[in-house]
Amino acid sequence: MSPVTRAELESAYVKLSGPRTRESIASARTLAELEAVRVDALGRKSALTEILKGLKELTLEDKREFAPKIQALKAELEQLVGRRRAELESSADEASLQSLDLDLTLPAVTPPRGRLHPLTQTLEEMTRILSLMGFSWAEGPHIETERYNFEALNIPEHHAARDLQDTFYLQDVPLLLRTHTSPVQIRTMESVQPPLRVICPGRVFRHEAVDAAHSAVFHQIEGLAVDKGISFADLKGTLRTFLQSLFGSSTKTRFRPSYFPFTEPSAEVDVRCLVCGGSGCPACKRSGWIEIMGAGMVHPSVFAAVGYDPEVWSGFAFGVGVERVAILRLGVPDMRLFFENDLRFLRQFDENLI
Ligand code: PHE
Repeated sequence: MSPVTRAELESAYVKLSGPRTRESIASARTLAELEAVRVDALGRKSALTEILKGLKELTLEDKREFAPKIQALKAELEQLVGRRRAELESSADEASLQSLDLDLTLPAVTPPRGRLHPLTQTLEEMTRILSLMGFSWAEGPHIETERYNFEALNIPEHHAARDLQDTFYLQDVPLLLRTHTSPVQIRTMESVQPPLRVICPGRVFRHEAVDAAHSAVFHQIEGLAVDKGISFADLKGTLRTFLQSLFGSSTKTRFRPSYFPFTEPSAEVDVRCLVCGGSGCPACKRSGWIEIMGAGMVHPSVFAAVGYDPEVWSGFAFGVGVERVAILRLGVPDMRLFFENDLRFLRQFDENLI
């Protein structure tokens, strides 16, 4: 029954505002206990609610005097409950942390940091140097036609390079996996007019037995410069600057006559052995030199195939294996390590060290 007379209301108020309510709030030991106390004192069926309902029955004057006291009591009790709840919650947090046995002073776990593959790092360093020398980057498809991979490069039909031993042919279609990135040079010459300077970095494929020095998939960077009056001296100067930037400014280079169908004259380029400095060791097969790249002056037939007039234009081309450079620069004994993706191997090549 709600208290209806003023006297009844007053005694209910005195009881509720007395020390018992405050004490039971303060002494609640758990959140559940506190909630029970709150429901009892402030809930829908509590003494307070009854008093508030009873207020309606009072005269206007009594109401004016009494209502603010009741509201103030309600606010005060709610505040006490809120404060106690915060206390209980923070000590509950603390208790659960204690029981977890956490050491908050331990250093945080650092997420593993990724890095570029050593081949990518090597390729990027090579292309960085060549870009500074004015070459721009060109790319082309891995799957090629015979025309781009062979014919336009002056590789006749019965040339050894077309042998099934070397080339992966696709079944049932006249296509193949490119054996070098020279087709990209043909594609470039077909689409732009000279003068030009391009490098063609990318993956190439050869039907080879895999061993420490060979892989059926590897990477090349080929370069091409075409202009009026380009000579073999330009080729030598360009490659020497490139190799000295790559292997160190005191690197000695040597050009040996060689043969490629798409260049004439052709040369193979050696660098002084980086391991023994030239005195002879197993790495250079006691010769003191390590073969590093092929190069030459663009053959007139290649210019003819792309519609450049060989009487007007001349140019040089070169090709270098990225794995070979990486092996020499990083001291890696076996090419297969680059393709196995063993993290113990890869982790050694922090970008900052190369
Ligand atoms: N295309 C040659 C190869 O793959 C490399 C090369 C390029 C040689 C340009 C000379 C000139 O072996």
